Amino acid sequence: MCGIVGYIGYRDAYPVIINGLKRLEYRGYDSAGIALVDNLKPVIYKVKGKVSDLETFVGDGNRNGYMGMGHTRWATHGEPNDNNAHPHVSMNGKFVIVHNGIIENYSFLKKKLASRGYSFKTDTDTEVLANLIEYIYLFAKVSAADAVSLALRKVVGAYGIVVFCVDEPEQLIAARKSSPLVVGIGQNEYFIASDASPFVDYTNQVVYLDDENLAVIGKGAVQIKTIKNDIVNAEVRKIDFDAEEIEKGGFDHFMLKEIFEQPKSLRDTFRGRIDEHHSSLQLGGIMPVMPKLINARRLIIVGCGTSWHAGLLGEYLFEEYARVPVEVEYASEFRYRNPIINSEDVVIAISQSGETADTLAAIQLAKKCGACVIAICNVVGSSISRVADAGVYTHAGPEIGVASTKAFTAQVSVLTMMALFIGRAKFNISAEKYTELITELNSVPEKIEELLKTASAVKHVAEKYKDSSNFLYLGRGCYYPVALEGALKLKEISYIHAEGYPAAEMKHGPIALIDEKMPVIFIACQDKSYEKIVSNIQEVKARKGVVIAIVSEGDKTVSAMADHVLEVPKFNTAVGALTAVVPLQLLSYYIAVMRGCNVDQPRNLAKSVTVE
Ligand code: AGP
Ligand code: GLU
Repeated sequence: MCGIVGYIGYRDAYPVIINGLKRLEYRGYDSAGIALVDNLKPVIYKVKGKVSDLETFVGDGNRNGYMGMGHTRWATHGEPNDNNAHPHVSMNGKFVIVHNGIIENYSFLKKKLASRGYSFKTDTDTEVLANLIEYIYLFAKVSAADAVSLALRKVVGAYGIVVFCVDEPEQLIAARKSSPLVVGIGQNEYFIASDASPFVDYTNQVVYLDDENLAVIGKGAVQIKTIKNDIVNAEVRKIDFDAEEIEKGGFDHFMLKEIFEQPKSLRDTFRGRIDEHHSSLQLGGIMPVMPKLINARRLIIVGCGTSWHAGLLGEYLFEEYARVPVEVEYASEFRYRNPIINSEDVVIAISQSGETADTLAAIQLAKKCGACVIAICNVVGSSISRVADAGVYTHAGPEIGVASTKAFTAQVSVLTMMALFIGRAKFNISAEKYTELITELNSVPEKIEELLKTASAVKHVAEKYKDSSNFLYLGRGCYYPVALEGALKLKEISYIHAEGYPAAEMKHGPIALIDEKMPVIFIACQDKSYEKIVSNIQEVKARKGVVIAIVSEGDKTVSAMADHVLEVPKFNTAVGALTAVVPLQLLSYYIAVMRGCNVDQPRNLAKSVTVE
């Protein structure tokens, strides 16, 4: 999510850190900050906005110092503003810290620290960690590095941190768990960053820190140990790629990187929400409105584009598990009708960016009519997340490719958790079933990890059909929204006409389009409408249509009929939609690349549509 850069050596740290942060801006760009150590004292600048805003803010200020740290933020806890921007300083000014990740038990730690006299200036989880380190340092009278280790042993969650202690001003301390951190080793200089892009111009020698590793980086040496104080003999590796490449993490495009990031982004969505025994869910953001949700007369889901598709899946999930009537609306249509809404309705607004103008306007209308509004957003502090009465962040990390991929799976995951939570609260789901469903949901990241290993099979299909002018995507039940999403992905990045339809609707019109030149993509996973979709496939084959089928692993029936099959993991529930969409994302990506299209910035589109 956030980007971190640290430097200690003989160069002016300011340009090294600022230029490094610019390379990490793909990881987040809602606020930026820097701490330089001049004459053994930290000088801090931080501001809402991009790294360029930080540069303007620093202006002619003191930019001296041969060591320091910087941060480009993608807020998770606390609005993106000057105050919440990193670096954070502990209450007594002993420690300065930048952090990437989420301290899940921050509220528990915050209460403990408050009871011991600590006060807090920001809304972030990071400041809690800074104060915890300081508290341990002052109380236990240990070294700064030991204080960091001891504090991290108390932390639940994810962190990549760089820490500076004013009493030990010639070193930086870095540590990580579940958030990336790499140390660059130069000649009498060291770099620390979220990926190697900030320092590839200076060195190609790196050490990748492992989870729960801590590095003490002084002017002449790096010492790596675990947070439990065991010595680590870290391997120094050589990197051989250029900066441009690694900004995309070695992928050719952000879209591909984001598709492949889905196992991680979904784990981030689940972090702190699914308990380790899979027997309970926690959705803190919507607890204040839970009574309204449980007693809602009706749910109305609004969104645009991919977010609307996630909403359609939500309809399926809420009806199935929460047993509540649901309407799914295009925000742009909803806002201009005269919809009948009242205070017994709950409106769920879905938006990756949290800035989509139509969705925002739909929320304002719903609020005017007295409905309770819940937002599902990816960008923390975005307009939609601020106007809603309550919300759940998807925590998928910054999505840069215009075609939404990991945000969609994160949105559907949040909707699934909400539907299960309400279903259980209303006693529609037994305790055993609840555990089974949560376990199945929690297994999705791992299943997608496996599935992504078969990307070359999708590439092979793309190669064959890249020159087609039309595609039809068909699915039933929870796979109908997946069909729509697959068609949208293809349209927006490859400029091929594609339509998504409920498979049974085909014979009411679209069947007229079918001939030997028309690839028809069936999402034919094994669920309760499997037999029906098998018949639909036969109808297409009888008209010489080309069938590409997404099937559950081990499927024999469809495999015998289709021209190509792409296998996905088998699930008994709507969770299957989360994996079935992945080959469709890949298919559109490969076709667009093969047609020479600008995948990350397709023509006429923008990532965030802030106009109607
Ligand atoms: C998806 O690939 C699109 N680029 C687009 O449909 C997008 O989902 C839509 O504009 C909604 O954006 P939002 O989720 O940020 O509100
Ligand atoms: N949780 C920290 C914050 O909100 C770090 C954010 C991140 O890594 O995304 O400031």
